[in-house]
Amino acid sequence: MNRMVDKVALVVGGAKGIGLAVAKRLAIEGAVVIVTGRVAHQVDLAVEAIGYGSTGIVADAGSPEDLERVVAKVRDVHGHIDALVLNAGLSEPSPLADITTDHFDRHFDVNVRGTVYGLKAALDTLRDGSSVVLMGSVAGSISVSGYGTYAATKAALRSYARTWAMELAPRGIRVNVVAPGPTDTEMMARVPDDVRAALIAPIPLGRMARPEEVAAASVFLLSDEASFTTGAELFVDGGMGQV
Ligand SMILES: NC(=O)c1ccc[n+]([C@@H]2O[C@H](COP(=O)([O-])OP(=O)(O)OC[C@H]3O[C@@H](n4cnc5c(N)ncnc54)[C@H](OP(=O)(O)O)[C@@H]3O)[C@@H](O)[C@H]2O)c1
Repeated sequence: MNRMVDKVALVVGGAKGIGLAVAKRLAIEGAVVIVTGRVAHQVDLAVEAIGYGSTGIVADAGSPEDLERVVAKVRDVHGHIDALVLNAGLSEPSPLADITTDHFDRHFDVNVRGTVYGLKAALDTLRDGSSVVLMGSVAGSISVSGYGTYAATKAALRSYARTWAMELAPRGIRVNVVAPGPTDTEMMARVPDDVRAALIAPIPLGRMARPEEVAAASVFLLSDEASFTTGAELFVDGGMGQV
């Protein structure tokens, strides 16, 4: 399909995992794609894997200053953004009794503050009628033992999306959340085997998502096919949080 032809798409946190899968799909659908990541070598590899004239910017998705620099560069080169994906997020376990300020701050700094400042930085560069996807998680809607802080960050994004969808509606800018269930990426590779099995057990479809399946849902929301969908949350969770 060619749903993103002539569109400029910025994927913050697009150098690996789900973000990279979204970037690849956007490029295949015709978008001019820019990805960010903290590690130069990884960004280079991503740009090579995405192809189609994509470019990369080394930046920390948790840093408001970096996010402003990224958007300024995209504006200088491309003039505007049609599709914005705020994908970066980290997930580490800690039951309530063990939560440290460092654990709490790192999760909220990257997952929430990074998303807030990413969209804030992009506001003037987003074209009227553009589309924004925030990468949420089914964890924001269910209980995930030991991952309470992560889950709370994703619930915060879901809440922000409702407000931002209202605030940006006058400009025709749509804001939606994609909420994956457990998805086979590096993030999951770090999860111990017993936790992995426990995560799959309650998924009706009996497996983790593939990053490409999350990408398909994301690109749908970024495209004009979803022209009347805003403030919504699209679950890609094999039914985990739905049944
Ligand atoms: N995998 C899952 O099961 C799953 C399920 C639901 C939701 N999600 C969400 O999907 C998104 C992508 O996750 P993934 O599975 O693709 O994981 P991943 O492969 O580990 O990628 C994580 C992404 O977040 C960025 N990131 C991680 N820690 C960071 C930090 N401390 N500072 C700045 N950026 C940081 C990474 O950027 P760098 O390139 O700079 O490292 C990368 O773009 C996240 O928001 C995650 O919460 C994942």
